[in-house]
Amino acid sequence: MAEKVILTGDRPTGRLHIGHYVGSLRRRVQLQNEGGYKDMFVFIADAQALTDNFDNPEKVRQNIIEVALDYLACGLDPSKVTIFVQSAIPELAELSFYFMNLVTVARLQRNPTVKTEIKMRGFGAEGEDAVFGSGLPVGFFTYPISQAADITLFKATTVPVGADQKPMLEQTVEIVRKFNSIYGDTLVEPEIVLPENAASQRLPGTDGKAKMSKSLGNCIYLGESAEEMHKKVMSMYTDPLHVNLSDPGHLEGNAVFTYLDAFCKDGHFAEFWPDYANLDELKDHYTRGGLGDVKCKKFLEKVLNSELEPIRARRKEFEKDIPSVFAMLQEGTAKARETAARTMDEVRSAMRINYFSDKALIEEQARKYSL
Ligand code: TRP
Repeated sequence: MAEKVILTGDRPTGRLHIGHYVGSLRRRVQLQNEGGYKDMFVFIADAQALTDNFDNPEKVRQNIIEVALDYLACGLDPSKVTIFVQSAIPELAELSFYFMNLVTVARLQRNPTVKTEIKMRGFGAEGEDAVFGSGLPVGFFTYPISQAADITLFKATTVPVGADQKPMLEQTVEIVRKFNSIYGDTLVEPEIVLPENAASQRLPGTDGKAKMSKSLGNCIYLGESAEEMHKKVMSMYTDPLHVNLSDPGHLEGNAVFTYLDAFCKDGHFAEFWPDYANLDELKDHYTRGGLGDVKCKKFLEKVLNSELEPIRARRKEFEKDIPSVFAMLQEGTAKARETAARTMDEVRSAMRINYFSDKALIEEQARKYSL
């Protein structure tokens, strides 16, 4: 068994929100604090963000610091975790280039995440069957290959991400197997680590829509103030059939209860709402009827605040010294490059392209010509 190496990353296209938090950040901090790993890497995937923001580099540039601040605010600790910037690791491009030989166009076309994203971003042609239209940039189409390089360059064993990343991990494992079977055992197969419960795997927006997204204006950001969050929680989507207090409430699609599923612990009831022992009791009352949405929202607000308040406070502290946050990123990047360089040496020798560091090759060629 390979030693445990944890790795994950985020695209810097906006500030991180509570969907990122329950989907992955919370788990990362837990993994960091449990210890027992050889290395842990968390990186800002700016090169990947450029695959669909190549025409808006300023957006990516402005969000490097936002993501770094969110990391530190959540409790990622640069003395335990190497935090780095993807584009500053040229070895990633090198490894991706060789991985391109190991993946067919047909296989990429079957990647469900890529398919959905192409449609979402309007890269595809019109119509269901024309997903891979002429407007699709090669860089975007092949980003699963570059993501496989992100993971394998650091020999990651453990990748904590949201469920939407599953196809990426599956494709990475295929690439590792193919690489190792052709060139010999070199790279490590990664395993995905998903969030604990279903609510955390895909937290809906405050409007109840399937995903939090900046363009829909339905996100609660990690760094936002208690006042901003208050407004959002109070206007959250609940149950349109729950009109009168006595009406039975429905949990399905009810964003307030989905958030409670993701955030609430029994201890929160003891602290903020001792009328109930746990979430099941609250749900029972709500579905029976006689419990208003506003009460549930107020409770949710307290629960969220108890988790987010320390994060906001830490973010404020780090915001006071931006240059040292950049210095932290630069140091992390230099450290990550050491690992990257080591793996690339192994890759080059496995692939038989280590011409100048391989004395045996020179001797062998010399012998051939001295016969
Ligand atoms: N695709 C991921 C996202 O959109 C970000 C990412 C890039 C990533 N490379 C990675 C995550 C490697 C984990 C491992 O969130």
